[in-house]
Amino acid sequence: MSSIEQLHVGRPTNRVDGRLKVTGQAQYAAEYPANDLLYGYIVDSTIAAGRIVSIDLAAAQRMPGVVEIFTHENRGKAAWLDRKWRDEVAPPGHPFRPLHSDRILFDGQPVALVVAETFEAARDAASLIRVAYDVDPHCTELERKRNEAYVPPKKRSGIPPPPDPRGNAEQAFADAPVKISRDYRVNPEHHNPMEMFGSTCVYEGDGKLTIYDKTQGSQNAQGYVTSVFGLGSDDVRLVNHYVGGAFGSGLRPQQQLFFAVMASLELKRSVRVTLTRAQMFHIGYRPDTYQMVSLAADRDGRLQAIMHDAVAATSHYEDYQEAVVNWSGMMYHCDNVKLTYQLAKLDTATPCDMRAPGAVIGVTALECALDELSYELGIDPLELRRINFAEKDENTNKEFTSKALMECYRAGAAAFGWERRAPKPRGMKDGRELVGWGVSTGMWDAFLQKAQASATLKDDGTLEVATAASDIGTGTWTILTQIGAEAFGLPLDDVKAQIGDSSLPMSPVEGGSWTAASNGSAVQAACDALKQSLFKLASKMANSPLADARFEDVEVRDRRIFRKDDPARGLAIAEIMHAAELHELTEQGKVSPSLIQMMKYISYTHSAVFAEVHVDEDLDVVRVTRVVCAAAAGKILNPKTARSQILGGVVMGIGMALHEEGMTDHRLGKIMNANFGEYHIPAHADIADIEVIFVDEKDDKVSPIGVKGLGEIGIVGAAAAVANGIYHATGKRVRDFPITIDKILNAPLLS
Ligand code: MOS
Repeated sequence: MSSIEQLHVGRPTNRVDGRLKVTGQAQYAAEYPANDLLYGYIVDSTIAAGRIVSIDLAAAQRMPGVVEIFTHENRGKAAWLDRKWRDEVAPPGHPFRPLHSDRILFDGQPVALVVAETFEAARDAASLIRVAYDVDPHCTELERKRNEAYVPPKKRSGIPPPPDPRGNAEQAFADAPVKISRDYRVNPEHHNPMEMFGSTCVYEGDGKLTIYDKTQGSQNAQGYVTSVFGLGSDDVRLVNHYVGGAFGSGLRPQQQLFFAVMASLELKRSVRVTLTRAQMFHIGYRPDTYQMVSLAADRDGRLQAIMHDAVAATSHYEDYQEAVVNWSGMMYHCDNVKLTYQLAKLDTATPCDMRAPGAVIGVTALECALDELSYELGIDPLELRRINFAEKDENTNKEFTSKALMECYRAGAAAFGWERRAPKPRGMKDGRELVGWGVSTGMWDAFLQKAQASATLKDDGTLEVATAASDIGTGTWTILTQIGAEAFGLPLDDVKAQIGDSSLPMSPVEGGSWTAASNGSAVQAACDALKQSLFKLASKMANSPLADARFEDVEVRDRRIFRKDDPARGLAIAEIMHAAELHELTEQGKVSPSLIQMMKYISYTHSAVFAEVHVDEDLDVVRVTRVVCAAAAGKILNPKTARSQILGGVVMGIGMALHEEGMTDHRLGKIMNANFGEYHIPAHADIADIEVIFVDEKDDKVSPIGVKGLGEIGIVGAAAAVANGIYHATGKRVRDFPITIDKILNAPLLS
């Protein structure tokens, strides 16, 4: 790898798309213009289970501007077979097929699409549609289904099942001198990105479609469209240049995409379909989860047994899964471990990956339990984590490619001032507020996925790098530009990244925090190949000053290629391309995980999160006054965008700790707070000081460019640190998230 790494990579560069975004020039899926555009509005079911008996469309059809109304009785042609509806990241089961039949599977399920000349006409007409149902009994309450929990199918889940038990956890637990066994609950949460789902399907004629869709994967969504509608892949181009957040909700194609394409093909017109904020609550959620964690230790705090059982919600039609309990087998050293994970089926939409899916739930429970154990032991909670440090992944017996977690503990504690912490709960006060300090470890996968990229040098010396990645707010545009600029020693303005388009080189969905490592390495590989080509052309030229040089001896910078030991000896790129009669030169690069290496190593990102809370002694109102998150994430390509990812993750973790909860009226099977007024996410007033630290972590195995992911690690552990802080402040332990005032008021004082 030839990289000098001083020009751009590692610098806190501003977002290259920042100006476009703040000036409104960056176009989102529902903003693209199209001629004779029609607007679709989705009508939702008002029951959670049953059948449609009849739909009265008469009044809606009379509304001026209405062009067509689609229901299950006249929906357009689409694939019948389940498997045609499976996208790249579908869980096992039967993918949801909109308007497939009269069957209702969840409240808010689309039952009709009104297409009209204006959005307002479509929405108005939609309000006039009357649906008669045959109502079946439903259950949306996990508590009532726990006794029907089952072990999910492994096939095609893509999610590692819990490891086999090791040692004898029950016996070790029984024999240990200090132990706790606690139940935790994480209530359902809903993704609420700023940009709501929308698709603009431009009908190009000749059976060709250009689709602007809000998605985390242009190629996944494009593949879904071609499969469901039986179209050729050359006929469908799917664009997602800018994505206004998604947090996992855009990993799978969402219903508006189906509707926009279906209506467009049927009506041979361009169609836009957008979801309302309320409808955003019907497209998947972080599943309601019950957990029981049992921990036992010797008197020195060494863990003797870990047992962690989880039951999570899924839908009737898919077995949505995530790795919830697996973390408990690898975060700490322990010889006796038993972990179980089960699902229970509810009459809801299928849950959906939400930022650090599984880890956020499971690590929160483990880290709260460990905190509880620390008080039983009388050992500082940070010290307890150090005592039980895991040197390898004990679930798989693999070595970590790197794990600078000890440095996270040290640097985080130093920045936070942890050594000044009073050990006992209710031991710190500020005026009439109790003060509490909590800590948690965070851990998330550092994946490398298969990805491809191209790099193109123009004869004016500028560079273009391309890969079908998405930028969901993470900074992908920027870091790929930086990598290209670094490789060719160019100013950022001379490098153009191309992403967000299904026609670009192959990319996985943007998820799992793998994009920087995967697409970044692919771009690096393409740039390396391009430099090689350039060097070959240069050295073959008549009287070339590089004729006797090897590739290792040269450097490309400022539109020249030259000898490192004698920069005067070199050639201008323009000169080389001119001599070769080329206007541009393109090379491809690709990356995929090394299977040999994967036998021995496993990669994770780690963090230590410290939170300070102030709790009003009379009212139990909680304020999170300070958070320090120290992360070990390999090489940091851009400390500015990287920091933003951690900030966003911590804010979301505070939301999980204190605010976020989808509330269902189980008699109706209906989410009652499907709006920003009643589904609380942190506002600016809820967020105070957040400090982000990146510790040094060299990792030459995790990915060719030494990068781990950052999109998700920021949320993992944040809620537990806050919860542990609340206990430290109040002496009250709330094990049911979010920790709202009523729960603190009702919790017994433990100390
Ligand atoms: Mo993330 S939940 O993998 O988009």
